[in-house]
Amino acid sequence: MFIAVEGVDGAGKGTQISLLNKHFADQGHVVVQTREPGGTAGAEQIRALLVEGAAGRWSAETELLLMYAARQDHVETLIKPALMEGNIVLCDRFHGSSFVYQGVAGGLGMERVQDLDDFVLGGFGPDLELVIDLPVDVSLARASSRAGQETRFESKGVGFLDMVRRGFHDYVARKPQRRHLIDGRGTVEDVHERILDVVRGASC
Ligand code: TMP
Repeated sequence: MFIAVEGVDGAGKGTQISLLNKHFADQGHVVVQTREPGGTAGAEQIRALLVEGAAGRWSAETELLLMYAARQDHVETLIKPALMEGNIVLCDRFHGSSFVYQGVAGGLGMERVQDLDDFVLGGFGPDLELVIDLPVDVSLARASSRAGQETRFESKGVGFLDMVRRGFHDYVARKPQRRHLIDGRGTVEDVHERILDVVRGASC
């Protein structure tokens, strides 16, 4: 099973992925935890180009191409082999972030992202996508309190991240059988329980 966890920056993905990893490991599964952009040596090098530096460093088109260059390497050298071995792959972001950050907030349109997605992935994607939803003022405060060098996307501002949040709502609505919006408010345990409800109900 291939599960992607998505959401605006600071939505609490990292904590929830760790808890979900433990949940599956306790059941005896081998879990491969990874992230995008990144996950392999080459894709991590591309990640540094994407998440560091000035907000205007890349156009949305270049950003999208870099995301998919990293994704191609990640899918072919890590994700597909792990799935072939029967492992659970838990990925911190996957192509949903491209549809929303570059397609919606970046203005390219979901259709153009879909074209590139078809070319690079040929229909491959997560069995389940969990989108943690949180108001942008709350998530941005969290994201900036732990900011290091990787601040390029946060620095695009509240308006951009608000488009990201609304973009994720639209993204989920397009394939509700596989994509789920998870209310990110409340305690860590509350959110974890909401995620487990969805995972238990998933038919994959
Ligand atoms: P992270 O901080 O959650 O690891 O994500 C890094 C940033 O990259 C985050 O601000 C969202 C952005 N991103 C995109 O814009 N498009 C993508 O396809 C992916 C995977 C991430």
